[in-house]
Amino acid sequence: MRNKRLMLLVAAATTAVLALAAAAVGGAVVFGGLYDVAATQQHFQLTHRVLEAAMRGSVKLRARDIQEPPLADDALALRGAACFRDKCVQCHGAPGVAPDDLGKSMQPLPGPLVDARHHWRARELYWVTRHGIRMSGMPAWEFRLRDEEIWEVVAFLQRLPDLGAPQYAEWMRRAPAAPSCGPDAVRTAGATAPPASAAVDAERGRIALHQHACNACHVIPGVTGARVHVGPSLAGIGIRQTIAGTLPNTTEGMVRWITATQEVKPGTAMPEMGVSERDARDMAAYLATLR
Ligand code: HEC
Ligand code: HEC
Repeated sequence: MRNKRLMLLVAAATTAVLALAAAAVGGAVVFGGLYDVAATQQHFQLTHRVLEAAMRGSVKLRARDIQEPPLADDALALRGAACFRDKCVQCHGAPGVAPDDLGKSMQPLPGPLVDARHHWRARELYWVTRHGIRMSGMPAWEFRLRDEEIWEVVAFLQRLPDLGAPQYAEWMRRAPAAPSCGPDAVRTAGATAPPASAAVDAERGRIALHQHACNACHVIPGVTGARVHVGPSLAGIGIRQTIAGTLPNTTEGMVRWITATQEVKPGTAMPEMGVSERDARDMAAYLATLR
């Protein structure tokens, strides 16, 4: 009985000492700067493999119920080819085309997508393109490309493994000129963006706020980010009378501020971020909830 109690005491003391030691090492790594964040330092091969496996599993699980539209049409793939050239080649490269400096120096490295069809189903390529990969630099295109445009790129990715450098160059000669996709293409064509028909969605607006980098300058409750004060904090923006001291704080006022900032207040430090009308409406709905 005595012995048992002694053993329990020793076990508890050992656990406590080990926990303290672990906390000390953890503290030294986090606050003492022991972890080397240099991009010239690579992960261990094992770490790399584990991260890659986790990413693949995550994508497969989340993409499993997506319905794939028909992707065999040549015209569809050709529009996708142009969009691929405008939005993807900088990082991923293409047959006979090197990625830009940016793409060559990222970690993890954006691989060439010439063999993507062999590793991923079409619906998985759609999911990755639409949602991006967090902590990797692969952007989410949901807020920059329309859904049809994402599928067009996926249609082109189905053709890519069959193209050598000369064939790729030939596709590029036939593909529409830049800007071929996204809001810039709509503006250049002189068309107005399709009216925002979807129901206003404040939760989507919250996501749009960080997808359009608003939190680079503003503290926004509910959006993770640094304590920045380049722009005023948007806490309580829902009950303020005016926006930037110029516009009445209504839904229409907010949409106008977000989409035509420089027109409303020429020379203001806040840039126009290329936000579509639909995204601006969703953002305005979320901002109105900040009381
Ligand atoms: C700013 C650079 C950048 C741009 C632009 C970019 N990507 Fe990526 N992409 C990445 C990075 C980084 C990864 C992550 C690689 C990893 O995790 O191994 C990635 C991964 C991917 C993957 C998964 C590839 C694999 O097999 O691991 C796909 C598919 C993909 N991107 C498609 C696209 C498409 C389509 C576009 C254009 C609409 C695009 N990317 C634009 C950086 C970029
Ligand atoms: C580069 C920094 C920067 C970015 C990015 C930015 N803003 Fe701003 N924002 C500012 C500055 C600076 C002001 C103050 C402008 C003024 O009063 O002239 C401002 C003002 C505002 C205001 C008015 C705040 C008030 O107190 O009246 C709102 C609302 C706003 N921004 C929303 C947004 C949204 C939404 C986005 C993303 C689409 C965004 N901002 C992106 C810098 C930025």
